[in-house]
Amino acid sequence: MQRVFSGIQPSGIPTLGNYLGAIRNWIKMQDDHDCIWCVVDLHAITVWQNPAELRQQTLEMTAVLLACGLDASKHILFLQSAVHAHARLAWIFNCIARLGWLNRMTQFKDKAGKDRENASAGLYVYPNLMAADIHAYHATRVPVGDDQRQHLELANDIAQKFNHDYGVDFFPNIEPMILGPAARVMSLRDGTKKMSKSDPSDQSRINLSDDADTIALKIRRAKTDPEPLPSEVAGLENRPEARNLVGIYAALTDTDHAAVLRDHGGAGFGTFKQVLTDLVVSKLSPIAAETERLLKDPDLLIQTLRIGAARAAEIADPIVAETERLVGFIGMQER
Ligand code: TRP
Repeated sequence: MQRVFSGIQPSGIPTLGNYLGAIRNWIKMQDDHDCIWCVVDLHAITVWQNPAELRQQTLEMTAVLLACGLDASKHILFLQSAVHAHARLAWIFNCIARLGWLNRMTQFKDKAGKDRENASAGLYVYPNLMAADIHAYHATRVPVGDDQRQHLELANDIAQKFNHDYGVDFFPNIEPMILGPAARVMSLRDGTKKMSKSDPSDQSRINLSDDADTIALKIRRAKTDPEPLPSEVAGLENRPEARNLVGIYAALTDTDHAAVLRDHGGAGFGTFKQVLTDLVVSKLSPIAAETERLLKDPDLLIQTLRIGAARAAEIADPIVAETERLVGFIGMQER
């Protein structure tokens, strides 16, 4: 079986967009892959994090992942900071990656914004740490959103340069699994913008912790147009809000836009929003309830993460120790 690795930032309770875009795909992959799932707190501090909030958000993300069906006994779930192999390998990769490569990273430019002089050095070398996350496990399949594609290309460039410089065939090529636009959920207020936790309006998103009334209200207020739903996909052209609601329905029922329109074409939004609300509530309520239950016992969550870290380290430590040997470090621990 090919080894899968993916990471998610501990940014608190995820939105429906995060769920359909990433988490749900992780859950599905568990059936036929060996998976390693990492909550990336080292990446989180590349921008300022209030320590108490970081701690809380890390627990929240862990609880949500488990509530969504992540199987921490069959697979591995852990915190990046708990396995030192990540930071050790990242340092070596800092010395492999070229400044010219990092200068091309569009996410750094976006996140650093205008005040680039004041961005952290960590934000700049973020992709090297991400490469280390994956290569520390010799993972070959990495499910990510399209915004991470460039980082995976960089991870492959680092592996190739390392193999070439040290004359070895040690780090394998990574095969990106780019999660498709079908899972792309847009803002409820503007169908051309991604649903995002950082949007100032909470009405623009559905959070996995929202209760039934909140979900109903947000969907009722979601922006739409006056036309009824078309019967064919072509009729969604230039109707981003309609497309978004149909897309959410399709994703939650594991079908596509065409199938939803076959069933609901001709319906007005009053009717369609009601069935959509029922659907979203039926899928999200159990997750919200289970998340809340898990968060009542932080010690148990931490115990789960501790077991995950030990199992992760068992895989990563020998790979990173071998990397250090290849580089020429004498390596005291191993003798
Ligand atoms: N950078 C990724 C994101 O923001 C998260 C991440 C960190 C990751 N390390 C990873 C994803 C390794 C895949 C593999 O989405």
